[in-house]
Amino acid sequence: MRSAFGVTTLLGAGMALASTPISSLIAQAGNNLLTVPNRFIVEFQSPADLPQTRRSTGTANLYASLRQREISFDIHHEYNSPGLFVGVSLTLNDVASLRSTAGVVAIRPVKLFDRPAPFDFKNVSEGDSGLPDSEGVHIITGVDRLHAQGITGHGVKIGMQVYLGAGFGPGFKVAGGYDLVGDAYTGPNTTPVPDADPLDQYTGIIGCNPNNPFNVSGVAYDAEIYAFRIFGCLGGSAEDVIVAGMLKAADADMDILTLSLGGLGGWTEGTAAVVASRIAASGKIVTIAAGNAGDSGAWYSSNPGNAINAISVASSDSPIIPLQSLTLQGPTHAPIVYFSSVPLPVNGSLPLYATSKNTTVTDDACSPLPASTPNLSTFVVLVRRATCAVTVQLKHLAAFNASPCRNGTGFTAAISVGNFTAALIQASDGVFLAQQLAAGTAVNVTFPQEGALVQFPDPKGGLVSAFTSYGPTDDLFFKPAITAPGGHILSTWPVPLGGWALLSGTSMATPFMAGSAALLLSVKGKSAEVAATARSVFQSTAKPLASDHTDGALVQTTIQQGAGLVQVYDVLFATTIISPAELLLNDTAHFVGTQKFAVTNTGKSPKTYVLKHSPVGTAVTGSILPASGPVPRSADYASVSFDEETFTLNPGQTHEVVATFTPPKVDATTFPVYSGFIHVVSDGEDVHTSYMGLAASIRDKAVLDTSTEALGVQLPVLEDPSGATEAANYTFVNGDEPFLLWRLAFGTAVFRADLVTADTTVPGTVSGRGVVPSFTFPKGQNGGAFSAVDVLGPIFEHDYTPRNDGTNSDDLNFASGLNMTNTFANGTVIPNGSYKVFIRALRVTGDPDNEADYDTWLSPTMGVFAT
Ligand SMILES: *[C@@H]1O[C@H](CO)[C@@H](O)[C@H](O)[C@H]1NC(C)=O
Ligand SMILES: *[C@@H]1O[C@H](CO)[C@@H](O)[C@H](O)[C@H]1NC(C)=O
Ligand SMILES: *[C@@H]1O[C@H](CO)[C@@H](O)[C@H](O)[C@H]1NC(C)=O
Ligand SMILES: *[C@@H]1O[C@H](CO)[C@@H](O)[C@H](O)[C@H]1NC(C)=O
Ligand SMILES: *[C@@H]1O[C@H](CO)[C@@H](O)[C@H](O)[C@H]1NC(C)=O
Ligand SMILES: *[C@@H]1O[C@H](CO)[C@@H](O)[C@H](O)[C@H]1NC(C)=O
Ligand SMILES: *[C@@H]1O[C@H](CO)[C@@H](O)[C@H](O)[C@H]1NC(C)=O
Ligand SMILES: *[C@@H]1O[C@H](CO)[C@@H](O)[C@H](O)[C@H]1NC(C)=O
Ligand SMILES: *[C@@H]1O[C@H](CO)[C@@H](O)[C@H](O)[C@H]1NC(C)=O
Ligand SMILES: *[C@@H]1O[C@H](CO)[C@@H](O)[C@H](O)[C@H]1NC(C)=O
Ligand SMILES: *[C@@H]1O[C@H](CO)[C@@H](O)[C@H](O)[C@H]1NC(C)=O
Repeated sequence: MRSAFGVTTLLGAGMALASTPISSLIAQAGNNLLTVPNRFIVEFQSPADLPQTRRSTGTANLYASLRQREISFDIHHEYNSPGLFVGVSLTLNDVASLRSTAGVVAIRPVKLFDRPAPFDFKNVSEGDSGLPDSEGVHIITGVDRLHAQGITGHGVKIGMQVYLGAGFGPGFKVAGGYDLVGDAYTGPNTTPVPDADPLDQYTGIIGCNPNNPFNVSGVAYDAEIYAFRIFGCLGGSAEDVIVAGMLKAADADMDILTLSLGGLGGWTEGTAAVVASRIAASGKIVTIAAGNAGDSGAWYSSNPGNAINAISVASSDSPIIPLQSLTLQGPTHAPIVYFSSVPLPVNGSLPLYATSKNTTVTDDACSPLPASTPNLSTFVVLVRRATCAVTVQLKHLAAFNASPCRNGTGFTAAISVGNFTAALIQASDGVFLAQQLAAGTAVNVTFPQEGALVQFPDPKGGLVSAFTSYGPTDDLFFKPAITAPGGHILSTWPVPLGGWALLSGTSMATPFMAGSAALLLSVKGKSAEVAATARSVFQSTAKPLASDHTDGALVQTTIQQGAGLVQVYDVLFATTIISPAELLLNDTAHFVGTQKFAVTNTGKSPKTYVLKHSPVGTAVTGSILPASGPVPRSADYASVSFDEETFTLNPGQTHEVVATFTPPKVDATTFPVYSGFIHVVSDGEDVHTSYMGLAASIRDKAVLDTSTEALGVQLPVLEDPSGATEAANYTFVNGDEPFLLWRLAFGTAVFRADLVTADTTVPGTVSGRGVVPSFTFPKGQNGGAFSAVDVLGPIFEHDYTPRNDGTNSDDLNFASGLNMTNTFANGTVIPNGSYKVFIRALRVTGDPDNEADYDTWLSPTMGVFAT
């Protein structure tokens, strides 16, 4: 299971609760909330927005106020980009103390960012023939026709946010930039050491010069690339550094910002997303990866990709996968393709051995191999894919010193083989080999180290890459915006890591979009107006993709493909403009069923237009935790009517279309997201606007998971070190402390865990005590009414929290947990006594002041007996 961009294993599989405390399953949990503990980004009003007399408010005022109150704090970054972001990132225990400071407009937690790992990565070298050049993806997007006209991005400045520093290599053409962190930076526990020498990794997709050994050219190879480095050589980064990098790039007058990174989001409210959106609104084009968490299902948009005004980029798979082939000695047979982009490192011709010659056996090598098995180190071993895990089979082979080769179905993805040298072959080839051995034919196998690469047609080529994260955002914005090629892309890679590589991920699709944007600006001019309309033009001309290649397959949901695959040629030569290109229908409770969009004929002759509704598969997103990807689809569609279905426009004329939508009648408890396209078709031209809505009220979506589905025990839990979840007393020494575990089935704008008196029973039934004493972020959220609940103080509070991931207990984001201490959130010691923990999570679109809009949970009694 993937968090947005990396793979982290936290929970073990197989949860036997009776014997194993949940806290030990959530190894090292403590705070796995994917934020930097006690670090916040505080935003101030821009000085320009303040009256002259109050210009002194801001950082100086905040620091003075904290010092005066003897509150200690550490400053990490100061931001001073009036109009975009003015603020500071700091660490302090008592975040509540910031609230009362004049001029503070927002306090947001600092999210952690995994190092952006490509979804798939292969080194390649000059000896590899048959690699896909860039022509394939340039042809399907129209870039080839622009290059042929000499349109190559000249004069446009692209700022990339990057992380790897390794040297300037072939195809690298970084004109400048800034290193915000230094090589040794590994995340928030290290100190960034900024310098002026940034280096980059994905520049080849935009900037690679033609005429190199791989025949690869960048999308906009004449654009100037500036690198803004925000990751060190190892480890992750934190949101405060990413924000600093974005502001630096904006201040350096980049025309385009591109970010191949992301972290857990869901909301459009993370600081990085807020800043990215403002930079876009200020007249720059901002392209950001949608994320590689497709298997986590819907409502999993990543931060900052979900920035309202940015272009969030999904990935499409290339039509071909470059794979290696092996040759046989003995039987006459064509080379056999195996699933690896690099040759298996095996020299010479080796005899083939099969652990079973039975072509229907289902448990091949699932048990230790018989003692009669020869030393396998001099063989290539053929194993049938079985019911047990691949790694189990490989371990049994390794016991006899085996090396490579495996048989199996599902020949569309590499298998994870750990340290073993192994690869999949196709089932029919496996059968052939087994039959040869069964017939007594001696078979030898050779893995040519050069010249054996074949262009294997990808059965999913041209579709949206399954790994692309799904939107929409929790507040129902249309994410991702658009798709660009991102699967099996050949590009430059830092020289010490090989120089060239085949990469897959939305991190590759994103610079492709940035390059496409550079082509747009180089032709239409680098004006704020062109930038402001760029996303609409890209979306309206994009090509909708199917969900699969079979006849009659539903069109892929917009919550994974956005408006479709980018068509850069059409962007530059379209003579019909649609605005807006996203129609946001919201949920049933906030339904905006009547939508207007303008159609303008920018061509030289009159055009007659016909409107055509093209619905796409409705995404059945799931009842408790959202369904894992690929998200199930249904053919229940919205209907739409137009005030006029056809109209004629003279050159320069604009017509406003009024479209009236009716959501599909579907089971609202599955939270179906319906969407589609309104095509505006004229002679030789077909542009579209996209729509998206939820056929349910989002307020009905439970936020707090109170099911037993995940761990076999009803959540949340407050658990003692032995794993018991009843009332207990704690000393808070030597690990004698409770562990609080919860899962969010959906994102929430307000999450809080408070300490309440032990006599609290069902929330809301205790007699009134007036105002709840609690700290809140200064946004007017007072944590709801609950005036009857005797709240003693907050233990934990988070705004705009993303949901947990329901699919797999290996994911770091599978659940959220907290080792409790005997202190409140502000560090003040809780007096000894008996208490309960009261959790509330606000449902999406709920009223923070309405008790009924919260999901709540009350813990068993927790005795605090600290010594
Ligand atoms: C939380 O508690 C568990 C169980 O005692 C422990 O293994 C883990 O290290 C703790 N985590 C932190 C961050 O203290
Ligand atoms: C490079 O690609 C172009 C366009 O596809 C092709 O005409 C040319 O032969 C290729 N050159 C090499 C060296 O492969
Ligand atoms: C294959 O042979 C080459 C050249 O003799 C040698 O350098 C390399 O280590 C060998 N590789 C393996 C996996 O044996
Ligand atoms: C098969 O491999 C063995 C061991 O490398 C070698 O001795 C033998 O000549 C090979 N046979 C063929 C037909 O290549
Ligand atoms: C290879 O796998 C396929 C699909 O599981 C199976 O039909 C075939 O019999 C296997 N071949 C061998 C030799 O195990
Ligand atoms: C092959 O394996 C299958 C499944 O285990 C079994 O039913 C069948 O009898 C085996 N065939 C032979 C010839 O052993
Ligand atoms: C791979 O090998 C390295 C070095 O021997 C070892 O540290 C690592 O745990 C191994 N990984 C797996 C998945 O076996
Ligand atoms: C949908 O409606 C909710 C509630 O009014 C609002 O908070 C949210 O921003 C809306 N979303 C969009 C995309 O307009
Ligand atoms: C890529 O190749 C280079 C040089 O051959 C090697 O040093 C590096 O470890 C490889 N990287 C990966 C991730 O395999
Ligand atoms: C906790 O300690 C109090 C005071 O000694 C006692 O009354 C209570 O029964 C204890 N609770 C549990 C669950 O042991
Ligand atoms: C910390 O929070 C608790 C509970 O809300 C409160 O009683 C206490 O006064 C706070 N301490 C400080 C120093 O503000």
